[in-house]
Amino acid sequence: MIKKEFNHSLSAQNTFRMKVSCACYIEYDSIEDLKSLDFDSLPQPLLSIGEASNILFTEDFKGTVLRSKINYIKYFDVGADTVPLAVGAGVKWDDLVKKSCEDRLWGAENLSLIPGTVGAAAVQNIGAYGVEAKDIIAGVTCFDLKTREKTAFKVQECNYGYRDSIFKQEEFKGRYIITGVLFRLSRVPVPKIEYGALKSIFSEAPSEPMQVREAVINIRNSKLPAVEEIGSAGSFFKNPVLEPLKFAQLCEGYETVPHYLLPGGFVKVPAAWLIEQCGLKGASVGGAAVYEKQPLVIVNHSGEARAEEVLALENKIIMAVQEKFGVVLQPEVEHV
Ligand code: EPU
Repeated sequence: MIKKEFNHSLSAQNTFRMKVSCACYIEYDSIEDLKSLDFDSLPQPLLSIGEASNILFTEDFKGTVLRSKINYIKYFDVGADTVPLAVGAGVKWDDLVKKSCEDRLWGAENLSLIPGTVGAAAVQNIGAYGVEAKDIIAGVTCFDLKTREKTAFKVQECNYGYRDSIFKQEEFKGRYIITGVLFRLSRVPVPKIEYGALKSIFSEAPSEPMQVREAVINIRNSKLPAVEEIGSAGSFFKNPVLEPLKFAQLCEGYETVPHYLLPGGFVKVPAAWLIEQCGLKGASVGGAAVYEKQPLVIVNHSGEARAEEVLALENKIIMAVQEKFGVVLQPEVEHV
């Protein structure tokens, strides 16, 4: 069923709590709904959102916001070690993780408590604690706005990278509306607990995915603001990936610099550390502030921050890090 509204307020529908509206808002719950829509007659451009937990709306949106309510979780469990799951794009990501852990399936547990929907997770390739969505995705089904037909991509065709996929790249952006995602989870235990914060919790391998989920929830609650309580869009910046020489330069004058080695000699450095070294923990512009416990996150404490203030703080952080380290931070949050 389609729900359509003009001049719709998005204030309660973006986790950053920006007070914005869109010219037109549409909710749909099937591919048939999408096929029945006359997209050309809608205010343009079109923007698909999940829970808008990774978007900074900088002003009212002049086009049409599309929100999937395609909600199903289907198991194809034939008793094999690998269990395929077909999931509707509108399902809340953490509902999927919770259910899979309850059903003792491994693979999604490290991605517990991440805000957003299943469709958005497949666009963004969400990641945490050593696991990315691509590790458990087998394929993605979409509605192609160009052909107005259903189409599908295998995981290899999605070009997944760090918080990246073909669905974010210029050529395809806005062309495909993700309607469902096929996951492959495991009946056989495959705990991934190498990430620092998890390693220190488990002295021996956990036997249930729910144990990992509970540990991840505890870590996240201790570091990250709960989107229900404090406005934010999670990590505001990506962790920069540096060339070996650049990393060596950056290390000069520091006893240790936290980092992760990547293939090809590249080094990923936590943006949180760079921001902290610039003395910006807790820094603010108007109602926008750098979160004390995790400076990679910009928060809207009072719910009254204006987009200009968030942008000014973003700019201040980028300039400070560039000046001190010669590294240009890239926002992880999409600006609309
Ligand atoms: N750090 C500091 N100061 C701080 C906090 C962290 O120096 O105040 C340094 C520490 O060295 C720490 C390192 O940053 O070891 C990494 O911190 P953390 O484990 O919190 O992870 P992150 O690299 O800052 C990334 C993701 C998060 C994800 C965590 C856990 C990105 C942009 N962010 O953050 O994802 O939850 O790893 O895996 O890759 C998100 O995308 O919205 C998000 C929250």
